Amino acid sequence: MMQVTVYSCRDFDEKDLFLEYAKELGIEVVLCADAPDHDNVSLSKGSRCVDVLTTKIDAQLVQAFREQGVEFITTRTIGYDHIDLAAAKECGIRVGNAPYGPHGVADYTVMLILMSIRKMGAILGRTALQDYTLAGLNGRELKDLTVGVIGTGRIGATVVRSLSGFGCRILAYDLYEKEEVRQYASYVPLARIWQEADVITLHTPLTEDNFHLINADTMAQMKDGVVIINTARGALIDSDAFIEAIEEGKIGAAGLDVVENEFGLYYYDHKTDILKNKELALLRSFPNVTVSHHMAFYTRNYVETVVKDSLMSCKCHMEGKENPWEIK
Ligand code: NAI
Repeated sequence: MMQVTVYSCRDFDEKDLFLEYAKELGIEVVLCADAPDHDNVSLSKGSRCVDVLTTKIDAQLVQAFREQGVEFITTRTIGYDHIDLAAAKECGIRVGNAPYGPHGVADYTVMLILMSIRKMGAILGRTALQDYTLAGLNGRELKDLTVGVIGTGRIGATVVRSLSGFGCRILAYDLYEKEEVRQYASYVPLARIWQEADVITLHTPLTEDNFHLINADTMAQMKDGVVIINTARGALIDSDAFIEAIEEGKIGAAGLDVVENEFGLYYYDHKTDILKNKELALLRSFPNVTVSHHMAFYTRNYVETVVKDSLMSCKCHMEGKENPWEIK
């Protein structure tokens, strides 16, 4: 029997799917709710494959898996920088990932843009209190606006295509230009996005070059009342400078699915905790800022894809077939 040990298995959405797909694929699964560590590594005994999430798999843990007989680690994520690939290679463990489609994040981005330009946060706040007045809630229409899309990879390009239906003018910037994006958007230098965009949405990975891309200098070049959307990585925005710009009225609205220093906060219930992230507390307090906890990816399609593909990847490995999910 082919056996796979699944770590960080979520009860509320992944467990039933794992059981269903495992049955379909003729795999036996050992499900563990906790992230892998030296205490529970023995649950992988008898499994040639383990299936993990974004928790750290360092050289020691890789070695510990190897000692249990593990040959393949699959992660139910696109990124795999949490796994020590060099250590895995050294002890002969192969690694795979499970990419999911860009539509979940792209839809969410369009939603945050619409929520921001229509003041949806403030509207919901009022209806919750049975305050049905209009003053202060006047919005803007996308067709009248210029949207700047920074990063036109899988997600950015999908956002461009979706936005094209709204009739807005779309400016784009990327280190590499894509033909399909040119159909709907004009590639321009970053400076023109700062100067001309009413809405700016970020879709690049975080690199040394673009750390704090949105900072005091770049914001000074932007239009007054500019709307900033970030579903990419928190540190693309200098939070302190951003908060100042919101207080000064420079930023008209923002939709932030990611913030700086979110690690350890998001995905946990901190209701009764005193939190250290002052920036997040301030950002949440502004009526024109929508904050969500890094969940733009979180759709039914995403869960089904990562659960099924990670198991199929294990099956390919165990049957000695070409594995399209393996990281080479
Ligand atoms: P991708 O790799 O397909 O595209 C990234 C694009 O950014 C590429 O076209 C690349 O050339 C461009 N790029 C890289 N550095 C740049 C720079 N300095 N300036 C301009 N362009 C640059 O990535 P994908 O899948 O579209 O993801 C985009 C972002 O979304 C990433 O930061 C990713 O971590 C984030 N993300 C967020 C999720 C969420 O739930 N909020 C879920 C999945 C991804």
